[in-house]
Amino acid sequence: MHDSEFGRAARDSGILRLMDDLGGAINRDAGVQMLGGGNPAAIPAVEKVFRAEMEAMLADGRAFERMVGNYDSPQGNDAFIEALAELLSGALGQPLTRDNIAVTNGSQAAFGALFNMFAGRARGGKVKKILLPMTPEYIGYADLLPGVRHGFTAARPRIEELDDWRFKYRLDFERLRIGDDIGAVCISRPTNPSGNVITDDELARLRRMAREAGVPLIVDGAYGPPFPGIVFTRATPCWDENMILCLSLSKLGMPGARTGIVVARPEIIAHITESNAIFTLAPGRFGPSLAARLLANGGEKLTALCAQHITPYYRERSRRAGELLREAAHGVPLRVHASEGAIFLWLWFPGMPISGDALYRRLKRRGVLVVAGEHFFPGLKGAWRHREECIRVTFAAEAAQLERGIAAIGEEARRAYAAR
Ligand SMILES: Cc1ncc(COP(=O)(O)O)c(C=O)c1O
Repeated sequence: MHDSEFGRAARDSGILRLMDDLGGAINRDAGVQMLGGGNPAAIPAVEKVFRAEMEAMLADGRAFERMVGNYDSPQGNDAFIEALAELLSGALGQPLTRDNIAVTNGSQAAFGALFNMFAGRARGGKVKKILLPMTPEYIGYADLLPGVRHGFTAARPRIEELDDWRFKYRLDFERLRIGDDIGAVCISRPTNPSGNVITDDELARLRRMAREAGVPLIVDGAYGPPFPGIVFTRATPCWDENMILCLSLSKLGMPGARTGIVVARPEIIAHITESNAIFTLAPGRFGPSLAARLLANGGEKLTALCAQHITPYYRERSRRAGELLREAAHGVPLRVHASEGAIFLWLWFPGMPISGDALYRRLKRRGVLVVAGEHFFPGLKGAWRHREECIRVTFAAEAAQLERGIAAIGEEARRAYAAR
């Protein structure tokens, strides 16, 4: 086979190993404690609502046949986009129209289109990068610019120790610069993997910096407000013409529907539409058709689903996972990032004699899947021991898996420190 640059990049990608572990564990290995992937939890009350809407669609004349039997426009499903414009205008406090919204096959595809739009060689010869202003950051960005050498650049955070075992990353504005080699800035809020939520003030400052530098700020709201709203702290959703807000139906509980949403100014929406037409003809209709039913009447069903079921569910799982970890890691100098949102705990083992990757491999041999922290620093240059001292654990796993998996993490970490 022709050995292309894209082929080589795709073969080595961290996201492939992660999705492979995830798919393998879910589909094949009954005995595995799956604390690795980003799959949302199966929340019975949420599943029930999705099922009821599907049954209503099946009973609704030819709605099902229309869903499977037609292409949407490359921008995405009309009814879904109109309903989103109404909901998001209220939630973001901006008068949005259908020209501000496009649908993609998962938000991952939106990041691919956006990064390749803003990074790479611009007319005039300058090569632009995507700036990730605070790493650790989402592993899935890392391989989205296969044709651009050093397509990402990234900054370290400040580490704030909150108490005897919690810490929090803060944007380090002292070091952060948006130079003329930057094409766009991107940050996930809440952040996968750390569960950090940049504060409203930090976000306001970042928006100002991006505007002054003349580059867009991409905010990845895959877990954030207004939906699915997996946030346990204050995080006001916002948007302006210089921002691109990416949302997703995945963490609501529909990753199989592969539906992403881009909110941006019309010329960027036009680009996403072109990219959809070229790579997929049109985004899938299943997610939008089902979700449009939850968006009727200003999205009251969707809003209630998030507020009554999704947010409280993950808040409790996060609390429980933290409690289990504290017990399991007794005597180990573990620190856990403040769990402010998303579905992960980010564990930092200061001074651990083995790397996070070695810990990942030891745990995998025991049938416990986590993700080594080192993958979550795309674009970060220079040595930094911290990145070899972390692992990511999902608390969306079933309760029994979480208990067994966290117990094993405690044992392996204790063994690693004891062998020093
Ligand atoms: C922070 C973040 N952004 C984007 C995505 C992509 O999600 P999807 O393509 O399912 O919308 C994920 C998936 O885990 C994620 O964690």
